[in-house]
Amino acid sequence: MMKAVMWTAYGGPDVLELREMPKPAPKAGEVLIRVCAATVTLGDCEVRSMTLPMWVRVPLQLYMGIDKPRRTVILGQELAGEVEAVGEGVTRFKAGDAVFAAAATAFRFGAYAEYACLPASFLVMKPARMGNAEAATIPTAGINALHFVRAANIARGQTLLINGAGGGIGTYAVQIARSLGAEVTAVDSAAKLAMLRSIGADHVIDYAREDFTQNGETYDAIMDVVGKSSFSQSIRCLKTNGRYVLCNPSLSGMLRGQWVSMTTERKVISRQVTYAPEAYAVLVGMMEAGVLKPVMDRSYPLAQVAEAHRYVEAGHKQGNVVIVVARSTDG
Ligand SMILES: NC(=O)c1ccc[n+]([C@@H]2O[C@H](COP(=O)([O-])OP(=O)(O)OC[C@H]3O[C@@H](n4cnc5c(N)ncnc54)[C@H](OP(=O)(O)O)[C@@H]3O)[C@@H](O)[C@H]2O)c1
Repeated sequence: MMKAVMWTAYGGPDVLELREMPKPAPKAGEVLIRVCAATVTLGDCEVRSMTLPMWVRVPLQLYMGIDKPRRTVILGQELAGEVEAVGEGVTRFKAGDAVFAAAATAFRFGAYAEYACLPASFLVMKPARMGNAEAATIPTAGINALHFVRAANIARGQTLLINGAGGGIGTYAVQIARSLGAEVTAVDSAAKLAMLRSIGADHVIDYAREDFTQNGETYDAIMDVVGKSSFSQSIRCLKTNGRYVLCNPSLSGMLRGQWVSMTTERKVISRQVTYAPEAYAVLVGMMEAGVLKPVMDRSYPLAQVAEAHRYVEAGHKQGNVVIVVARSTDG
C-alpha cells in the first residue's frame, strides 16, 4: 500500500484527500518511481478547481468527467524520485536510478503519491548534484519558460518584458532570457521585485502601481506568462517586428493574434509546449553550468498538499513550491 492525495471533486483545496491505496505495478514500457519531490503550480490549482480558459476546460472535463473526476485521480504534474522497478521492455532505466519527469504529459498526473508509474519515455536522468526539489520544478516551469523565451526569438541586446515574472515559469524565463543577452523588464507584485532583481531582471515594475502599457516604453518582445495584459495595448507596446508571446492564451487572444500576425509586421505567438528531450538537456546543462537556478519558495509534506494549494492559490508564491514526499536513499 502507499499514501496518495486523491482529487475527489472540482473545487477548493479541501477536495484533495490523503488516502491509503494500492501501490501501482509497472506495465510493459513503464517505470515504477519512488517519489521524492513533487510541485504545486498555479496550473495544478486551476485544473483542480477547473478555473481554466473554456478551450482548455471543455475538452478536459469531457475527458476527466463533467461534474467531478469520473475515476480516482491523483493530482500532481511533475516529480523527481528514484526508480524502484521497471516493466517489461524497459532497458534505459534500472532500480536505483535518480530521475525526474512531467507526469502531466497526456493528463496522467499522479505525482502527489509515494509511488507513481510512468512510461519510460517521460523520464529524464537526474544529475547527482541536482536536488530532487530543484529537479521537480523543471518539467512544467522550466520547459514552459524555455519554450516561450525561444518563441520570443530575442537577439542579444533586445528588450523583453515578462508579465507575471515572479512565479514558476517567469523566474525561469527571466534567467533564460538574461543568459541569451536580453534586457529584461520583469512585471509582478511588489513583494517579488527584489527577488526578480536578484535573479537578473534589469528593470522591474509593480503591476499594482504602474501599467506597463501606459508608460511609453516599447519592447522587442512581450511575454505574458499570467495572461492578464490587455491584448490591444500590449500590441501597441511592441516595436516594429515585435513579438507578443501568450503563455496562457484565451480563445479570443489566439484568434486576434492570428489576425495581427497576418496583417501587420508584429507577430503573436501562442503555440503549445512539447516536452522534447532536447529541451530537458538544455535546462539541465544550464543548471549544471550555474547559469540557471530554480527559485524555491516553501516546501510541504505530502499530508499537507491541500495547504500547499491554498498558499499557491493565494498568489504569494515566489518561484516554485515543492511537496517533499521522501528523502532519496543517498540522503
Ligand atoms: N501554455 C501552457 O502550456 C502553460 C503551461 C503551464 C502553465 N500555464 C499557465 O501559465 C500561468 C502562469 O503559470 P505559473 O506557474 O508561472 O504561475 P505562478 O507561479 O502563479 O506565477 C504567476 C505570477 O503572475 C503574477 N501576477 C498575477 N496577476 C498579475 C498581473 N495582473 N500582472 C502581472 N503579474 C501578475 C503573480 O503574482 P501575484 O499573485 O503576487 O500577483 C505570480 O507571481 C498559469 O495560468 C498556468 O496555467 C500555461
